Amino acid sequence: QVNLKGRDFLELDDYSPEEIQYLIELAIEIKRKHKNGEVYQPLKGKTLGLIFEKSSTRTRVSFEVGMYQLGGHALFLSKNDIQLGRGEPISDMAQVMSRYLDGIMIRTFGHDNVVELARYASVPVINGLSDLAHPCQVLADYQTLYEQKGKLKGLKLVYIGDGNNMAHSLLIGGAKLGVHVSIASPAGYEPDPSVVAVSREIAKQTGSEIVITQSPQEAVKDADAIYTDVWASMGFEEEQKERELAFADFQVNEELVKLAKPDYLFLHCLPAHRGEEVSAGVIDGPHSVIFDEAENRLHAQKALLVALMG
Ligand code: CP
Ligand code: NVA
Repeated sequence: QVNLKGRDFLELDDYSPEEIQYLIELAIEIKRKHKNGEVYQPLKGKTLGLIFEKSSTRTRVSFEVGMYQLGGHALFLSKNDIQLGRGEPISDMAQVMSRYLDGIMIRTFGHDNVVELARYASVPVINGLSDLAHPCQVLADYQTLYEQKGKLKGLKLVYIGDGNNMAHSLLIGGAKLGVHVSIASPAGYEPDPSVVAVSREIAKQTGSEIVITQSPQEAVKDADAIYTDVWASMGFEEEQKERELAFADFQVNEELVKLAKPDYLFLHCLPAHRGEEVSAGVIDGPHSVIFDEAENRLHAQKALLVALMG
């Protein structure tokens, strides 16, 4: 039986395929309860801290609302309002916060900050996005795909664009779940080779195929799902102009999606830039499931919180 009590959630790599599948099933069950109006409050009396060094709409709101719905409480802690912004060591903050809180979510730049926090905290630490990974988003993404397609194993997910945190977590998550993942990025913006190597290693056991290419047309062929993300992630804003040039041929638009399966789904973690990484016709079109996907952040994270802190 799967038991995740007390665990951290830093990267999907730390979780077995069974554990990830368990979280997805639990998310679907918790979503069903919520839709039926059932009161489900296994986290009564528990408090989750939410540390943000970067902006957020979905992550903040879904964690706050999720804790409330589960009977607990969430504290929004912006970097500038806590002593972290004035240089208090993460190790001290981790130990102090562990005396008050039952769990800590952090959104930060360097992934080493997440690791450092988890190392010194005695309560579960959840990665709410680092430059390396965005595992909470990917739980919701594969939940969405599973709900829509009725299976995951053997599906083909194509990610077009920057080899960033999203690309990394989709790669690892896909490999774990037996989803074939193709990534098309321009030269110089490929996913981290070490993440690719790890996902290929995992894929050997699950039968998933990992393809890294510079051709969106080649990648998107027969796709069940097409995913994209912003060209300039948080922290890379000053590269916007040069990235617009580098990514010019990597837009997901009506022309490109013709090469996918006729019943392909379009996903995007949001926020999106219409006219840049995706055309309005695609993101607002009939294949897009972006709002189901955003909603699933709530259900997937409630499952995670119950599993780690319940
Ligand atoms: N997708 C996502 O994490 O959105 P936010 O940056 O709004 O939290
Ligand atoms: N890659 C994006 C994801 C935002 C949810 C970023 O890091 O800004």
